[in-house]
Amino acid sequence: MGKKIRLGILGGGGDSLIGVLHRVASAMHDRYELVGGSFNPLLDESIKFANQLGISTDQVYTNLDILIEEELKLPKEKRMEVVSILTPNFLHFSMAKKLLENGFNVICEKPMTTTYDEAKILKETLKMANTVFAVTYTYTGYPMIRQMREMVANGDIGKVQKIDAQYYQGWINPIIHDKEKRSSTWRLDPEKSGISCCVGDIGTHAFDMIEYVSGHRVESILADLNYLYEDNRMDIDGTILIRCENQVKGVIRASQIATGEENNFTVQIYGQKAGLKWAQENPNHLYLLEDGQPMKVLKPGHSYNSDISLDGTKLPPGHPEGIFDSMGNIYKGVARAIRKEPYDPGEFPTIIDGARGMGFIEKAVESHQKGNVWVELDKD
Ligand SMILES: NC(=O)c1ccc[n+]([C@@H]2O[C@H](COP(=O)([O-])OP(=O)(O)OC[C@H]3O[C@@H](n4cnc5c(N)ncnc54)[C@H](O)[C@@H]3O)[C@@H](O)[C@H]2O)c1
Repeated sequence: MGKKIRLGILGGGGDSLIGVLHRVASAMHDRYELVGGSFNPLLDESIKFANQLGISTDQVYTNLDILIEEELKLPKEKRMEVVSILTPNFLHFSMAKKLLENGFNVICEKPMTTTYDEAKILKETLKMANTVFAVTYTYTGYPMIRQMREMVANGDIGKVQKIDAQYYQGWINPIIHDKEKRSSTWRLDPEKSGISCCVGDIGTHAFDMIEYVSGHRVESILADLNYLYEDNRMDIDGTILIRCENQVKGVIRASQIATGEENNFTVQIYGQKAGLKWAQENPNHLYLLEDGQPMKVLKPGHSYNSDISLDGTKLPPGHPEGIFDSMGNIYKGVARAIRKEPYDPGEFPTIIDGARGMGFIEKAVESHQKGNVWVELDKD
């Protein structure tokens, strides 16, 4: 396995939502050592946080420019090898680009950028850098999602004929009806979030998931988004019809005003022979449906699961694993890629998935703005 990979983190401070997930996930398989970063726009806060974590403050910096300048002065065996970008969306592109241009491997939160054009630039930058780039569509790390993908690919459900992904949350409901709150949340500010809130934040997970588990590329979409108030510039709900290659059709339903919902993300794929259903709030159960048969429940860690599914399970069956483990599996795959060990392409989402996600977000908004018309997605 060799030495631990030296990890830096941007954002993800004590005041953040996602930081703890990345810190725990990176520690899970003993492949990474968090050495520093810039956790907060204020250096004092970053230092305070590093002290709280019990790590040295030698590699804690005011901002990314100083981080790059100082890290490049260090001998290679001390320098950060990979940097995770966990800041609000509008910072992802510039940070990722600078890191790639200076030879770092990158793990980037979704949405990867704020525009599709930026995503395309980043793809070109990566070609020159030739480093590893992962986008954390977290849910693709779940063992039963990986199993679902393998079963669809093996033809266990026959020819795919219907795809349905739903991602319902309710957290914006108390915010959206309060004028002051809706004007001060970064996710509802196009300058910080990009052109979309709901589709960009969670619809993009559903889109990536559909392509990941079904193995089908989405070719065109028709979106009907909801903004609720005229002064609100960002969608907070949407229904998106999708058409994939081979005449496969389906729907993405995403909402952040589904009152009372927590993180109700589900994916269903129906084929000629059988159907498969999975729900994020009960991630260790994968349901197999067949005509005239009792429903079967597949669970992680059993020998009937595929190698990539079993690789993502650490404990014997019956010990529930969750979102931390799912992200941990993505970090494990990235570690293998950085160390040039063999890995399965399904182990982590790449810049291609990140760019497709950005294309999807832009086209969803375009479809809605043009009066709910069908629009085509780029092929690559
Ligand atoms: N993969 C997932 O399932 C998932 C879930 C939640 C959030 N996210 C993504 O993670 C990112 C962060 O989301 P969050 O909910 O943690 O946001 P947040 O607002 O809770 O936290 C953002 C963090 O970034 C820090 N920050 C802001 N500007 C900075 C700068 N210039 N330099 C250094 N640090 C800076 C803040 O201090 C804070 O610690 C977003 O892009 C979001 O879409 C992904």
